[in-house]
Amino acid sequence: MTIFVTGGAGFIGSEFIRQIVGTARIINFDKLTYAGNLDNLKEAAKDPDYSLAVGDVCDPQALEAAMPEDCDAVVHFAAESHVDRSIVGAAEFVRTNVLGTQMMLEVARLRRVKRFLHISTDEVGGDMPPDGWFKECDPLEASSPYAASKGAAELFVRAAARTFGMNTLITRTSNNYGPYQFPEKLLPLAISNVLEDRPIPVYGDGLQVRDWVHVTDNCRALRAVLEHGRPGETYHIGGGNPLPNIEVLRTLLKILGKPESLMTRVTDRPGHDRRYAVDFTKTTRELGWRPEISFSDGLAQTIRWYQDNAEWVRRCRSGEYRKYYEEMYGDREATAKAL
Ligand code: NAD
Ligand code: DAU
Repeated sequence: MTIFVTGGAGFIGSEFIRQIVGTARIINFDKLTYAGNLDNLKEAAKDPDYSLAVGDVCDPQALEAAMPEDCDAVVHFAAESHVDRSIVGAAEFVRTNVLGTQMMLEVARLRRVKRFLHISTDEVGGDMPPDGWFKECDPLEASSPYAASKGAAELFVRAAARTFGMNTLITRTSNNYGPYQFPEKLLPLAISNVLEDRPIPVYGDGLQVRDWVHVTDNCRALRAVLEHGRPGETYHIGGGNPLPNIEVLRTLLKILGKPESLMTRVTDRPGHDRRYAVDFTKTTRELGWRPEISFSDGLAQTIRWYQDNAEWVRRCRSGEYRKYYEEMYGDREATAKAL
């Protein structure tokens, strides 16, 4: 089994690779943007059936060169993923998330890939009312440029299935948390700040609700969808536990024995969605998957990981993690030629 993973050096992609390494030949195609961190794959990279191809999903020649003829499956994680960055500048989100997905579909079709799993997000459904749950059949109502680009990408995936008969699957996951998450997203930012007694920026009133799912549970679900999902279908993945941000941060501060005064209100995110909540009953019913890690256990475990991996955080924050070529392959020029 050969699996072509895009964005495998990021937060979720690297967990997916850590879960499947040793069971398949893995090609990790990644541009290594600021979000791509090869520190996340130090152990997995030792496997002889794992290889890295540095390239851009918008570059069809690079994709054709990296994707073998006998590729069984594509798992497409690569994306610009941070909502705040999409508000500052949306162009890179349209390029990577929309054009990049279309290029992936074209090259996968050329290579006759048997299965194409596209990783999307619950944000494509937009704000949920207080008692509403986002279902697979609901309309796309994206609020942020990030969510709009992910919604557009989904439409190209659906079009490829309908027009060319490609065997595609879409997953929409809620907010992931866990080890190796870049410290720009709420939880890793808050944990690493609190560990240094620095304030946590709370957007607006902090009452926005997110449904936290542990990245290990999410990747178990992705594997179930890849193996057993019905072609052309969309599957939701969530933690089943939507919580207001302020409550999440209070729990975090309590676990670490730090004062609530570390929460500092800042200007709200423009267009900020108040509530996400995915209904994943279809995924449970069809695939038998359900989240296994409770939020309280997962959060405590995640905090411990950040405490035990202060060096990983330090390298992220100092930018040292981006010196990957020298560290992983030695001489930079020789590496550039080899790549
Ligand atoms: P991430 O930002 O941590 O990682 C993204 C990865 O994609 C990085 O390795 C980066 O180098 C790579 N990449 C970016 N642009 C690229 C390009 N043009 N060509 C090739 N590689 C490129 O993201 P993540 O949080 O791991 O999210 C992975 C996927 O899951 C994304 O598609 C995201 O939209 C989706 N998702 C994330 C969450 C979440 O909570 N993090 C929830 C739902 C869905
Ligand atoms: O729902 C899935 C999505 O979750 C993914 O598709 C995205 O890739 C991922 O980034 C995430 O988006 P969010 O915007 O929900 O995540 P973020 O961690 O940026 O913010 C979580 C909540 O916390 C949100 O309500 C904004 C708030 N927040 C965030 C940051 C970074 C703060 O209050 N302060 C902060 O400093």
